[in-house]
Amino acid sequence: MEFLIAHVSDLHIGSAEFIPDKLETCIDEVNSLSPDLVALTGDLTSSGFEKEYKKAKEYVDTFKAKTIVIPGNHDTRSTGYTYYEEYFGEGNQFADLGNVTVVSVDSTLPDNDEGYLGRERVLWLGENLRKVEEKDFRVVLVHHHLIPVPGTGMERNELIDAGDVLSALIGNKVNLALCGHRHVPYTWKLENLMVITSGTACTGYVRARIQQAYFIINIKDKSMKITLKEVGGKETVVRNIKY
Ligand SMILES: [Fe+2]
Ligand SMILES: [Fe+2]
Repeated sequence: MEFLIAHVSDLHIGSAEFIPDKLETCIDEVNSLSPDLVALTGDLTSSGFEKEYKKAKEYVDTFKAKTIVIPGNHDTRSTGYTYYEEYFGEGNQFADLGNVTVVSVDSTLPDNDEGYLGRERVLWLGENLRKVEEKDFRVVLVHHHLIPVPGTGMERNELIDAGDVLSALIGNKVNLALCGHRHVPYTWKLENLMVITSGTACTGYVRARIQQAYFIINIKDKSMKITLKEVGGKETVVRNIKY
C-alpha cells in the first residue's frame, strides 16, 4: 500500500501577514505531487469572519486532491464557528480512505486560544478508532499541538487535556497525529505514535529563520517518510521510519 499526504496548516487568510503568493505556490506544489489527501489542520482564517471563510473556501477548492479540514482557534473567533460547517463541513469526522482511516477532531474553544477535547470527544475518538480495521493506517487531525514544541515560548495553549488525548491515541494504535497552531514545523515520536506539528504555509507569523512550509508524508510498505517542504524552497527528509 502506498499513500501520500500533504499536511498544510495555518493559512490565516484575512490577516495582515497573509502572503497570497506563498499560498498559491504551495497549492501548485501540492497539486503537482498528486497526493491522496491534503490535510488542513486549522487556522484557515484570521478572525473567523465570513469574508475570510469565503476566500479560504475558494483557495481550498483549488487543491485537486481530497481535502480534510479541521477548525483552529482563529476560525472559531467572533463566533466564526457558526460558519464552519457551512463552508467546510463537520469538524469531527471519520473518513475511511481504503487502507488509511482519518479521524479529525475539533479542539477549539470559542474565543479562546487554548484547545480542549473534553471527556465526550475523547470517548468519541476512542469509539471511532476501535471501528478501524486492524490493518489500516490510522491518522488523527487536531489543531492544537499534543506535545510542546521547542522554540515557541511559554507553553500555555497546547491541548489542556493532552495527556488524555495522547493516551487515547496510543491506546488505539494511532500511527500519525497531525497538528497545527504553533507555526513551527516539528516532529515527535512517542511510543508508536508520530506527532507532526506543521509550520504555517503562507503567513509572516514565523519565528527567526523558519520559512513558510508544509509536510509531505509518504506511507509505503510499513514505512513512513516525512519531508519538510519550504514553500518555493528546499525540501528536507526529517524522518524515515518503519511503523
Ligand atoms: Fe495559527
Ligand atoms: Fe492556532
